[in-house]
Amino acid sequence: MGQPLNVGIIGCGTIVRAYLETFPRLKAVKLVAAADIDFARAEAVAKQDPGVRALSVADLLADDQVDLVLNLTIPLAHAEIALQAIGAGKSVYGEKPLAATTRDGRAVLDAAAAARLRLGCAPDTVLGTGIQTARTAIDDGLLGRPISATATMVTPGHERWHPNPDFYYVAGGGPLLDMGPYYLTALVTLLGPVASVIGAASRTRDSRIIGSGARQGEIIPVTTDTHVSGVLTHASGALSTIFMSFDAVATVSAHIEVHGEQGSLVVPDPNRFDGEVKLRRLGAADWETLPVSAGYVNSSRGFGLEDLANTGNGQEPRAGGKLAFHVLEVMESLLASAHEGKAVAIESRCDRPPAVPLT
Ligand SMILES: NC(=O)c1ccc[n+]([C@@H]2O[C@H](COP(=O)([O-])OP(=O)(O)OC[C@H]3O[C@@H](n4cnc5c(N)ncnc54)[C@H](O)[C@@H]3O)[C@@H](O)[C@H]2O)c1
Repeated sequence: MGQPLNVGIIGCGTIVRAYLETFPRLKAVKLVAAADIDFARAEAVAKQDPGVRALSVADLLADDQVDLVLNLTIPLAHAEIALQAIGAGKSVYGEKPLAATTRDGRAVLDAAAAARLRLGCAPDTVLGTGIQTARTAIDDGLLGRPISATATMVTPGHERWHPNPDFYYVAGGGPLLDMGPYYLTALVTLLGPVASVIGAASRTRDSRIIGSGARQGEIIPVTTDTHVSGVLTHASGALSTIFMSFDAVATVSAHIEVHGEQGSLVVPDPNRFDGEVKLRRLGAADWETLPVSAGYVNSSRGFGLEDLANTGNGQEPRAGGKLAFHVLEVMESLLASAHEGKAVAIESRCDRPPAVPLT
């Protein structure tokens, strides 16, 4: 391996803290600069590490030292920042979703391919031991032929804890585009790409009240669906049923279950890197917990960057743009199906990313 990839962060809000905690543990990438439209936020990041310079967004994009832009802006800005970074000759790894719309996501994917630059996207949680151990169980045939999966995400809403939750309730947000990437990326990792979808969606109220921080009590508008159900038909023929809500209170359902002819699997929270995988074999009296068998051990947000940096030239990173684009198209198509009242075919296909050996 050569020199580490030099990373410049654009967008130093809430989630930057998680990445800053991970950076010291990564060997293939090095944080060198930070920028935000609110310059004080970039300065706050630079203050924590003498090797990091606070720059304006334009200066970071023009900086020769920066090889890759880590795009931690809000979803509506993801495509614009990614396209600027690619235009400046830099690889990009961004927070999810890849873009707020499939159209914007396609522009990012095409621009990166044309410039021969690497494109990666969260979630990288699927590279952790939880989802990777579940994947190994499926690949090893412990379930027999996979038939179906369920994915359930319930929260009464992120405005209860996030100080600036506006982006969760506009295009690019909602439970599907915000939390869906974890669940759908896991489902594609486990069962392969999706061929068509049927969706149904609703919105319980047109405004939300911010529950914490400097803007506590402020009312913000809701212009996106806040409860989404759907059925995905995977190219393999397996069917996944999803239930994503910012409206309901709580659930005791498994985050994800996968069912095959020979067994059923309980898959841990795809918004975490670890977690127990449980198998119930056909005819067995009880569930068994599978030993951890694959994935990055003790990983955290940012391991997808390390994985990208270690991916050979011309190869697709595991947390790659093609997978993120496919997941984005699936999400947008679920909402289109909900509003059009008919099944929607998915045009894009992506390979299941290579499994992560126990690392
Ligand atoms: N907050 C979480 O727990 C969490 C968890 C996982 C993923 N994410 C994802 O991370 C991304 C950011 O979320 P967040 O919670 O940190 O949001 P945030 O609003 O707290 O921070 C976003 C930051 O980006 C900056 N920004 C916005 N547009 C910009 C632009 N055009 N140029 C430069 N800077 C810009 C803002 O000033 C802000 O500092 C989102 O895509 C979100 O889905 C968030």
